[in-house]
Amino acid sequence: MTHQHPELSLSVSLPTVQSTIGPAGFDQRHLTSHSSTLAFDPGFSSTASCCSGITYIDGEKGILLHRGYPIEELALKADFTELTYLLLSGHLPTRLEYVSFCHEMAELRILNEQIRNFFNGFRRDTHPMAILCGTVAALSTFYTDELDTNNRDHREFAARQLVAKVPTIAAWAYKYTIGEPFIYPEEELSFSENILHMLFARPGRRYNVNPVLARAIDRILMLHADHEQNASTTAVRLVGSTGANPFACVSAGIAALWGPAHGGANEAALDMFHQIGSKENIPAFLTKVKDKTSGIRLMGFGHRIYRNVDPRSKLLRTSFHEVIETLGLERDPLLDLAMELERIATEDEYFIKRKLYPNVDFYSGLILKALGIPTSMFTALFAIARTTGWVSQWLEMTSNPNNRIMRPRQIYTGEEARPVPSMDER
Ligand code: ACO
Repeated sequence: MTHQHPELSLSVSLPTVQSTIGPAGFDQRHLTSHSSTLAFDPGFSSTASCCSGITYIDGEKGILLHRGYPIEELALKADFTELTYLLLSGHLPTRLEYVSFCHEMAELRILNEQIRNFFNGFRRDTHPMAILCGTVAALSTFYTDELDTNNRDHREFAARQLVAKVPTIAAWAYKYTIGEPFIYPEEELSFSENILHMLFARPGRRYNVNPVLARAIDRILMLHADHEQNASTTAVRLVGSTGANPFACVSAGIAALWGPAHGGANEAALDMFHQIGSKENIPAFLTKVKDKTSGIRLMGFGHRIYRNVDPRSKLLRTSFHEVIETLGLERDPLLDLAMELERIATEDEYFIKRKLYPNVDFYSGLILKALGIPTSMFTALFAIARTTGWVSQWLEMTSNPNNRIMRPRQIYTGEEARPVPSMDER
């Protein structure tokens, strides 16, 4: 409960924290030494939790930069492995660095054979995110001699292990839930080709990876790799600020991503297309969406930060059309319905006036469905991509010698001090 009080006028002079682009901040760390008042911002909408040089977003203008490079250019000129290298190290790899990084990542994909046994402890109907969360945390037990967070080599090794191994665990989680044998990673396949291989190959039946589909997966991964201080990244940083090992930190990130308000929107958009059922029902559905008493929102539209076209959704729209053309799915009724819904909503005054555009989740769910990826794996794929961002943000934080444990304060609204009554007096 928030206790509203009369307005408080404070006059303190605080130092500023400069930015390269975007809003600067004022440093309120020592606010309590100037006044007995605390800053109150439960959703952190006006609070910068850190300084970071990894990702920049301008939601008004629809800009997303990684290490200064626009996502639109990265998506056209680089692949997910190059983006991973960029986020981790701060620079794009040279050809030699790229080849060596690909080779190293391919070698790290394999899991210790004992990890197979973990899966048997889960029920067959377990959600892949639950398996991912538990197994990633347990991975630390295999690297107990390399978990010194003060050691730069240990930190970087753990970061690469996580990026390389999370796809294998995610794919095995899926295979486990459908009762199929685990498929081992193939060293000669690219990061994205290998994901398709581990999901769809079976012993005795070779799976030939279609390059158009691998490119679509690669693009989805690139567009979900990092998004500055979102909820799951903040969870990773918060756990990391205690000195916890990186596997535990990423497991916390996976748990946060699992929440429907964060990683589950593309699944919800797909459910909505099914619920609408056919193109004729779109106008009636949109009438309900516009009625505030209905509690229904158009899933896959709008964004808390972007008040313009999300640059990532433009790219995914192109990938979506490439995929349906490659697979000959132009006549698929669900995909057709989604395109008609997009057309009608983007021309509708309600959405134009409120600057509500199709977001990344509108198209990613459609692409994943067209590729034959089961809905239970949608958030797990997001986790594969975001692991790159989580470990980059964790590396940035742990390499800062001034890192402090994140420990917010509170405004206490409970009882004042009072005596404990005896049992008879209660
Ligand atoms: N459908 C209908 N109306 C909407 C929608 C929507 N999807 N999104 C916002 N609005 C309306 C609001 O009702 C409000 O209308 P009003 O001014 O008449 O009261 C107006 O647009 C402004 O909305 P906000 O409240 O400022 O939007 P907010 O920032 O709270 O919400 C959010 C952002 C949660 C993403 C919202 O747009 C939404 O629920 N979208 C659908 C879910 C979705 O696709 N989520 C994925 C986001 S992308 C990502 O996480 C990777």
